[in-house]
Amino acid sequence: MHPALEKKIRAAGAAETDLASWGVYYPVVSSSLTARVRLRARGEDSPRQYLNFSTSNYLALGQRPEVASAVARAMEVYGLGANSSPALSGYYDVHETLEQELALFHGAEAAVLFPSGLSANAGTLAALLGKGDAVVMDEAGHGSLYLGAQTGGAEIRFYRHLDHQELDWLLGRFAEEGRTVLLAMIGVYSMTGEIENLPRAIEIARKHGAITFLDDAHAVGVLGQEARGSMEHFGLPSGAVDLHMSTLSKSLSGAGGYVAGPRAAVEFLRFQAKMLLLSASIPPPVAAGCLEGLRILRREGSGMARELRAKATYFAELLCKEGFQAPATGSAILAVRVPDEGKVIPVYRALLARGVLVNPILYPAVPRGEGRLRAAVTLAHSREDLETAARAFGECARECSLLRSLTGRT
Ligand SMILES: Cc1ncc(COP(=O)(O)O)c(C=O)c1O
Repeated sequence: MHPALEKKIRAAGAAETDLASWGVYYPVVSSSLTARVRLRARGEDSPRQYLNFSTSNYLALGQRPEVASAVARAMEVYGLGANSSPALSGYYDVHETLEQELALFHGAEAAVLFPSGLSANAGTLAALLGKGDAVVMDEAGHGSLYLGAQTGGAEIRFYRHLDHQELDWLLGRFAEEGRTVLLAMIGVYSMTGEIENLPRAIEIARKHGAITFLDDAHAVGVLGQEARGSMEHFGLPSGAVDLHMSTLSKSLSGAGGYVAGPRAAVEFLRFQAKMLLLSASIPPPVAAGCLEGLRILRREGSGMARELRAKATYFAELLCKEGFQAPATGSAILAVRVPDEGKVIPVYRALLARGVLVNPILYPAVPRGEGRLRAAVTLAHSREDLETAARAFGECARECSLLRSLTGRT
């Protein structure tokens, strides 16, 4: 290896809290990721089946037979990949239809697909903002928003998590300087499941003339009467934000991202967002599967999302009964805060030993020193699954003396 490359790699790996040093990430999955998963955990010789709480496959749409048939049909028609940038020959009729139906679903004029949720965020912000402009975001916002601002050369300012007073102050300061500012909002925070107070954040942004951008990755399919996401949850019209993004990799079980908004803005992104222009489109069979999933969501989303939220609330109640401070969030994500990051992996491993898979969350996903055990409830979980998992959480936390540090009791 080139010595400079080796030096770089060694320096990056030196940090004690480097994710690789925990030795648990990148387990090897050998089944679908629904309520059950078969995987080989790091350090184990063979795969085992686990009760799965680590995946945002909230509605298990990817496991529906209608979706499987749509994917198989698309495979016959188009083959595996898009093989080209959308601007050249990688924009298939199935992409066009998916964009139109996503726009319709969100009540937007138009929508544009990106290869991933990450590139939808990063590509949009990088295309829209440059030197002299600013992006303001919650410190718990997604890294892809940061990446986009950084790539475009805009100044990035974080405000303390959910601190709208600081947000107001920051936006006010930029407004005084007469700069173009974009407020990058998160509908549902991926690490905690908290729902952003969107009406308030939007009101502050409007007061200071900031562009509003909403990342609704964990809200579409979960929140709102018709499962349309956090704007519907708050009764806001679709034009309440300037641009709205979500991913196809969570409730829609596929891969890819999209941005919806005014047609002129969408057309601007088609030609200016390098992360879209310089990359092959979503494989057509995946787009076809997501399109079928979206049609199911439009027909059945209301009932599915209601049932999902009820399951998540039930799981929160069970965790609280076990002694955790884990109030229901209103979304499908629950997170048990672990004040001592050193306990995250022992509890995670103890849960694995009992056949339960959750997400161990450590820096840089959360501030250094603290950690979380994050659980995503899905429609595929039965009440019994939730009860089994909550019992396992309680047993493991007691075994690792976690509950004492959380509540003062064992
Ligand atoms: C809030 C948020 N935004 C964007 C993304 C990126 O989506 P994708 O995984 O589809 O690239 C994620 C995924 O983890 C996310 O949690």
